Amino acid sequence: MIDRILDAATDDVIDDPVELEIENTIRPKDFANYIGQDRLKMNLQLAIAAAKKRGEPLDHILLYGPPGLGKTTMASVIAHEMGAQIRITSGPAIERAGDLASLLTNLQDGDIIFIDEIHRLQRTVAEVLYSAMEDFKLDIMIGKGPSARSLRLDLPKFTLVGATTRTGALPAPLRDRFGIIHRLEFYTPEQIGQIIHRSADILDVKIHPEAAHELAKRSRLTPRIANRLLKRVRDFADVNGDGIIDAVISKQALILLDIDDLGLDPADRLLLGAIIDSYDGGPVGVETLAALTAEERTTIEDFIEPYLMQIGLLERTPRGRKVTPKAYGHLGKTRLQQATD
Ligand code: ADE
Repeated sequence: MIDRILDAATDDVIDDPVELEIENTIRPKDFANYIGQDRLKMNLQLAIAAAKKRGEPLDHILLYGPPGLGKTTMASVIAHEMGAQIRITSGPAIERAGDLASLLTNLQDGDIIFIDEIHRLQRTVAEVLYSAMEDFKLDIMIGKGPSARSLRLDLPKFTLVGATTRTGALPAPLRDRFGIIHRLEFYTPEQIGQIIHRSADILDVKIHPEAAHELAKRSRLTPRIANRLLKRVRDFADVNGDGIIDAVISKQALILLDIDDLGLDPADRLLLGAIIDSYDGGPVGVETLAALTAEERTTIEDFIEPYLMQIGLLERTPRGRKVTPKAYGHLGKTRLQQATD
């Protein structure tokens, strides 16, 4: 679980230079190489073609959805397709309004600024964005007290691409200033399989189709997890075999990683097991689950639950979380009494 929490905290920011290099080579640079998210790609291609034709900057874009589905990658693809420069930052990294002001004043016309986890921007910082996004103006206060006065600066015509796992946490005036708002969907197992083959080709790793299929099944329909599993299984194949990932090697590596055939890891099983064992399947509130499993509420909501809901093991109801009969089946547990709700 630590792995995933660290991933959550740092999201796409990778410190290890070797990992960063690998990540940069694996990430698709243009629409042609970006697998999946077809509706989003079509909408963006249209918006980009229209903006180019009119010689205008692209509208501000908000991408939302569970982590690991490619929001940062898509922002880089957009910049590439626009022939624009991209500056990448994140909500928590912009601590004061002045930090944002210096970022914005250093942009050039047409540049893209990507703010990951934009829901974590401080309110005072988010407020600076309102006039910046709407009128390309920056309102700043000079001085303090009675002699304070405000100054309006012109900004370059930039495009903001924001990414968030939770649109609901965005102040409404900020959300309303995005002209294009899109949700990234989970990938199909076939698309994940294609991504694994593409990444294996780039990394020059031989992988048998059955092994790719096995990894795809267990990647939580999420490219970041697929690529991470591929790298871990490659390690296993290099150490315990001849470097080729076949069905046997991949199965053994996945057993070592404790990832089951639906892609659930120990944290997922702990959560489902807690609802079943302590609350007879639910409903139970998320705060109670956080205490029971020693996970942060946001980790449960943003990282664990979306996939469990996507594959039909968990439901969110107004009275709390409930597991489904499929979850009982998957964990090999039997229900004590018939649910009344
Ligand atoms: N690597 C990570 N995400 C990808 C995607 N959507 N398409 C191709 N390669 C990827």
